[in-house]
Amino acid sequence: MGWLVSLGLAWVLSLSVVCSVSGIGANWGTQDTHPLPPATVVRMLRDNGFQKVKLFDADYGALRSLGRTNIEVMVGIPNDMLASLASSVKAAERWVSKNVSTHISSFNTNIRYVAVGNEPFLQTYNGSFLTTTYPALRNVQSALIKAGLSSQVKVTVPLNADVYESSSSLPSGGDFRADIRNYMIQIVKFLSDNGGSFTVNIYPFISLYTDANFPVDYAFFDGNTSPLVDGSTTYYNMFDANYDTLVWALQKNGFGNLPVIVGEIGWPTDGDRNANLVYAQRFNQGFISHISGGKGTPMRPGPIDVYLFSLIDEDAKSIEPGNFERHWGIFSYDGRPKYLFNLGTTNSNGLIPAQGVHYLEQKWCVLKMSANLTADIVAPSVSYACSRADCTGLGYGTSCGNLDTEGNISYAFNSYYQIHNQLDDACKFSGLATVTTTNPSVGSCKFIIMIEPYYGSAGRLRGYLGNVFGSSLSLIVLFLIIL
Ligand SMILES: *[C@@H]1O[C@H](CO)[C@@H](O)[C@H](O)[C@H]1NC(C)=O
Ligand SMILES: *[C@@H]1O[C@H](CO)[C@@H](O)[C@H](O)[C@H]1NC(C)=O
Ligand SMILES: *[C@@H]1O[C@H](CO)[C@@H](O)[C@H](O)[C@H]1NC(C)=O
Ligand SMILES: *[C@@H]1O[C@H](CO)[C@@H](O)[C@H](O)[C@H]1NC(C)=O
Repeated sequence: MGWLVSLGLAWVLSLSVVCSVSGIGANWGTQDTHPLPPATVVRMLRDNGFQKVKLFDADYGALRSLGRTNIEVMVGIPNDMLASLASSVKAAERWVSKNVSTHISSFNTNIRYVAVGNEPFLQTYNGSFLTTTYPALRNVQSALIKAGLSSQVKVTVPLNADVYESSSSLPSGGDFRADIRNYMIQIVKFLSDNGGSFTVNIYPFISLYTDANFPVDYAFFDGNTSPLVDGSTTYYNMFDANYDTLVWALQKNGFGNLPVIVGEIGWPTDGDRNANLVYAQRFNQGFISHISGGKGTPMRPGPIDVYLFSLIDEDAKSIEPGNFERHWGIFSYDGRPKYLFNLGTTNSNGLIPAQGVHYLEQKWCVLKMSANLTADIVAPSVSYACSRADCTGLGYGTSCGNLDTEGNISYAFNSYYQIHNQLDDACKFSGLATVTTTNPSVGSCKFIIMIEPYYGSAGRLRGYLGNVFGSSLSLIVLFLIIL
């Protein structure tokens, strides 16, 4: 028995050594109508052994809660700030002083990276940030040097994977996209000269979503029916091939040693026929197994620096890219794990939920039994609810895709009611709706109970009151079709 125990211990120790080399990170986005309190999220990060976290802005509460935890932090600069930071070194100095220096000196927050912009070269932005990204990066770096922080805090730019491409469709044909090549070289050279890293977001799910002919098992890590042969190397999954296309692009341009960070990788669980618990589990667990042991990719053996996307669902994200956008979390909105997922960072089998979460009362808003479904007010009521709440769990192949018409209407009403903190007025809908204490959930289709709203340190209600919802047009169209 003794040797079994020590063998087990040796395994745990070797595991923690592997993790201290690369470490697993998570993206912590906060576009929720009801964000969990930062202290709750930080406890969740620690309980689950995350060693790194990536933020999309420089939220005061988050950075303060991360203080004295030793969790490495990447703070973000949103794209809409790039122009001002690009045009003024002083603005960059103010940003660094307020959003980096203060947190390091007052709270001992372990800030290690500043992410300048977020996917600024996405084609949907029509080149809006092409000319401001590099000057902003340069000014932020100057500000870090002036603040005496440049050896501890590095700069980077999280980029979408379509900033590079391959003429031959093979990784070895990788190079930066021709139309933005000069901008890319400028940025890459600067990162290389200043000890920065190249951050890339890689999404096999999006490939599957946008290309009906994309081979499903090539998106995952357990298939071998669609291998890609590139010289003496055979690729069995899209992640390796995509990552290596970047490595080839860097190498071809003289930056073969630039460190690469995978800024986002993950799989959503709802909002599309390919977004479900089974696929998300298969992808995320497959990815963790794939990178554990630090074998890396064919072109870059060694540990992979990675931030999972994402930690928690965000029910107020824009759904312009697709209804799946609000479902990337490995935890649901209330900090519950969605599926069995072993990060290998703790002794626990599976994720540890958020502690001390406060819910609203156990009551739901549903369609009245006596309601007249053919009445003219039904469709506009549902559109209204969906445009101001979250109906992305409805639709073909989604968690609530099998509801009947009545169920669809109730789902919309309940989402609106919960997001509006169960206010009596939020369950009227011209007399069509009523409150019930009987849980209307069926099978995979969950009618949620919202968590209590969180009042931030400034006493300001965080969440939907200050939130702008994305375009509701597509949902209105969806419901006009349904009803
Ligand atoms: C610090 O970051 C926050 C959040 O991203 C931003 O709103 C604020 O303008 C920044 N402060 C300065 C001085 O740039
Ligand atoms: C980009 O251009 C298209 C077509 O001209 C337009 O519909 C869209 O709103 C533009 N997007 C942005 C972010 O400017
Ligand atoms: C239901 O609404 C339709 C459309 O307004 C109306 O024609 C019908 O009479 C109503 N049925 C009942 C039972 O009230
Ligand atoms: C309910 O809504 C879903 C998602 O929009 C739709 O696919 C389904 O056809 C609707 N069911 C009925 C009976 O209206």
